[in-house]
Amino acid sequence: MIDINWKPNKNSSKALYRQIVDYIISEIARGNFAIGTKIPSQRKLAEIFEVNRSTIVEALDELKSRGLIEGNKGGGTTIINNTWSLLSSKPELNWKNYIEGSIHKPNLRTIQMVNRLEYTENIIRLGTGEPGPDLFPRHMMNKVLNRCLNRITSLGYLEAKGLLELRRVISEYMRKYGIQVPPSSILIVSGALQALQLISLSLLPPGSKILVEDPSYLKSLHIFQSLGMNLTGLKMDGEGIILEEIQKNGGKNADKMLYTIPTFHNPTGIVMSENRRIKILKYCGDLRIPIVEDDVYRELWIEKSPPMPLKSRDKNGNVLYLGSISKCLAPGFRIGWIVGPESVIERLADIKMQTDYGSSSISQMVLMEWISSGLYEEHLKEFRRKLKFRRDKTIEILKDNFKDIASWNIPQGGFYIWLKLNSNISINKLFQESIKEKILINPGSMYSFSNNQNLRISYSYALMDQMEMGLKKLSHIIRKLEKEQNSC
Ligand SMILES: Cc1ncc(COP(=O)(O)O)c(C=O)c1O
Repeated sequence: MIDINWKPNKNSSKALYRQIVDYIISEIARGNFAIGTKIPSQRKLAEIFEVNRSTIVEALDELKSRGLIEGNKGGGTTIINNTWSLLSSKPELNWKNYIEGSIHKPNLRTIQMVNRLEYTENIIRLGTGEPGPDLFPRHMMNKVLNRCLNRITSLGYLEAKGLLELRRVISEYMRKYGIQVPPSSILIVSGALQALQLISLSLLPPGSKILVEDPSYLKSLHIFQSLGMNLTGLKMDGEGIILEEIQKNGGKNADKMLYTIPTFHNPTGIVMSENRRIKILKYCGDLRIPIVEDDVYRELWIEKSPPMPLKSRDKNGNVLYLGSISKCLAPGFRIGWIVGPESVIERLADIKMQTDYGSSSISQMVLMEWISSGLYEEHLKEFRRKLKFRRDKTIEILKDNFKDIASWNIPQGGFYIWLKLNSNISINKLFQESIKEKILINPGSMYSFSNNQNLRISYSYALMDQMEMGLKKLSHIIRKLEKEQNSC
């Protein structure tokens, strides 16, 4: 056992555990603590150094992580190394430089905050774009899982485009939207978000121009911008993107793409009219501008089903169509799909294989069962009924509390109400004040190319009594901020 006649200096600004680490290292370096030397127990070391046991634990942990000591089965700790390279204290690696020098841009700060705050206990989430836990069809899920139990005989990697049986089922399912494609033209992805990532990586050169609705879900991400591409916002009216906006920014170039959410648009809820769909498809077809049609909200219609997808009229393979079960069933499956010309699907599948070797096999098998058993269709009927109730109730709450301070649309499906405040109070302040009251909002600026006075309200997540409480409180905060502003 070693003899120790040293104590850390409690008046030093250097942490006690660090002084102990440095002391033991210097003794090893001097040869006073040879390899194989036993170190006294933690209790004994705490006594010798006159420090808390936790300080000793911290010091020993660091020495262990540097490979200098090792605990043995008998409970003792031994010096195991005296190599100079391990003893020398190297300056810490500066990860910040690596992070800042990398390609991918970070999320917007507000989005980072929303992502974090969503998991605060008892917070009311007024803008979250996913089905709330009470909308999850637990009993049906149990049924589906039971049916799958005996079918899962192995869980290997799947072929690049995804589980063939699932692609067959989706190919059949797409027919009801007027989309007729073989399974070979379908790629299973880990949500529509991955579809966007793959498209940005696989099909476009840096400097490309992505035309998108203003506002748009895509603006809240940095997928294309991180690869040196630019998003251009296109104005919308009640029928979707204004055609002239594409014409202004279009032109014959191989470096353009139109990304659109024509059905129950995120965040405005707008549905592109049939007439507009036909015109946009023709214009982009004539100019060879590819279209990415993000249709993840299609199934969530309330009164009547929306016009058929652009893809259903696409004779020339101009449209890449994105579907997902995140919004209609559960985002935790992480399953979506891309429909497109086979050559494109093969290219995307090749990049996907280099990214993750395919989406979760279990999720794919379970989803196949959901759709092929007919339970998915059954679930959707119930889901739409519940969504209607939620939408109507939310509109009622808005009428009772926001009539004189905001205006809004009545969405025909999807999740979102695009609420516009009448006053020009600071939305950032509103966001901060709401958090103090345990209310989380999604400011409209996250989705827009310019500042605005909008909030994205989603009636899909919070329970309706929470929604009522949250919106009421929000209206009080808005009124308070308006008063403060007027008195300045
Ligand atoms: C328009 C749109 N596309 C894609 C996604 C991402 O969906 P997924 O969960 O399938 O990746 C979202 C999610 O909010 C969305 O609103």
